[in-house]
Amino acid sequence: MSDVLELVDVSVVRDGRALVDDVSWSVKEGERWVILGPNGAGKTTLLNLASSYLFPSKGTATILGEQLGGVGTDVFELRPRIGMAGVAMADKLPQKQTVLQTVLTAAYGMTATWHENYEAVDEERARAFLDRLGMTEYLDRKFGTLSEGERKRTLIARAMMTDPELLLLDEPAAGLDLGGREDLVRRLGRLARDPYAPSMIMVTHHVEEIAPGFTHVLMIRQGKILAAGPMETELSSRNLSLCFGLPLIVEHTGDRYTAHGLPLS
Ligand SMILES: Nc1ncnc2c1ncn2[C@@H]1O[C@H](COP(=O)(O)OP(=O)(O)OP(=O)(O)O)[C@@H](O)[C@H]1O
Ligand SMILES: [Mg+2]
Repeated sequence: MSDVLELVDVSVVRDGRALVDDVSWSVKEGERWVILGPNGAGKTTLLNLASSYLFPSKGTATILGEQLGGVGTDVFELRPRIGMAGVAMADKLPQKQTVLQTVLTAAYGMTATWHENYEAVDEERARAFLDRLGMTEYLDRKFGTLSEGERKRTLIARAMMTDPELLLLDEPAAGLDLGGREDLVRRLGRLARDPYAPSMIMVTHHVEEIAPGFTHVLMIRQGKILAAGPMETELSSRNLSLCFGLPLIVEHTGDRYTAHGLPLS
C-alpha cells in the first residue's frame, strides 16, 4: 500500500514556538485516521499540512506522492486531489448560494462564482453526494440559513465533489446535538467502510464521535505525537490520560467508544 501522507521530522514554527514538533507520521492508502488531542495541541495545524496549505518549517511532508516545496510539485494540481471540510471553510463560502450551488462550485475549485454552464454530470454528482448525507430536501436552501448540522453535512458533500484521494475532516460533529451527532457518525461510518471512499483523517475532541470503520488513531499534545497506530491498541485509557493530562477511562462497547474521568469517591 502506498503512502497517502508521509511526514518525516516535520516541525511548524511560528514566533519561535513549534506548533508541530518533530512529527513523523504516515498514512497509507485506505486507512481512516482519527486525531485526538487537547485544544491548541496542533491538530488543525496537522490537517493544514495534510491539505498542502501549510508547508513545514523543518522536515519533509509528502502528500499523495508529491513533496511539499519539492521540485516539480505544483500545489495547485495537488489541492483538488484533497477534500477538506473544516470550520474555516464555512466562513469563506458565500452565504447566499444555495446548498446545491455550494457543493457544485467545488468541482471547479472555487468558493464564489456561480456559472450557469455547469455540466449536467457534475450536478448529478452534487445531488448524489448531498443525498448520501441526507440533504436532498435542502438543495435550494441558502447556505447561510442552514443549522450547524446541515452546514457540516453540506461541507462534507462539498469536500467529496472533486473525488478526492484524501478526505480531511476537522471536527465534523462539533456543535451537533445528540441526534445530529449520531446521524453524522452513522453516515461517516458508512463512508469509512466503503472500500471506494478516499483515505480519511478526522480531527475530533470526543471518542464518542469515532465512527465504526475508522482504523487508526493519532494522539497529539503540545505539538508532539504521543501515540499513533491501530485503534484497538492505541486508543487506551493510558494513552488518552497522558494525552489530556488527567486520569481517564476509555470503554469500547460494540463498535463505539466512550471516555470518562475516574468515579468520584
Ligand atoms: N499562525 C499562527 N501563528 C502563531 N500561532 C499559531 C498560528 N496558528 C496556530 N497557532 C497556535 O498553534 C497552536 C496549535 O493550533 P491548532 O489550531 O493546530 O490547535 P488545535 O489542536 O486544532 O486546537 P483546537 O482543538 O482548539 O482546534 C495553538 O496554540 C495556536 O494558538
Ligand atoms: Mg483545531
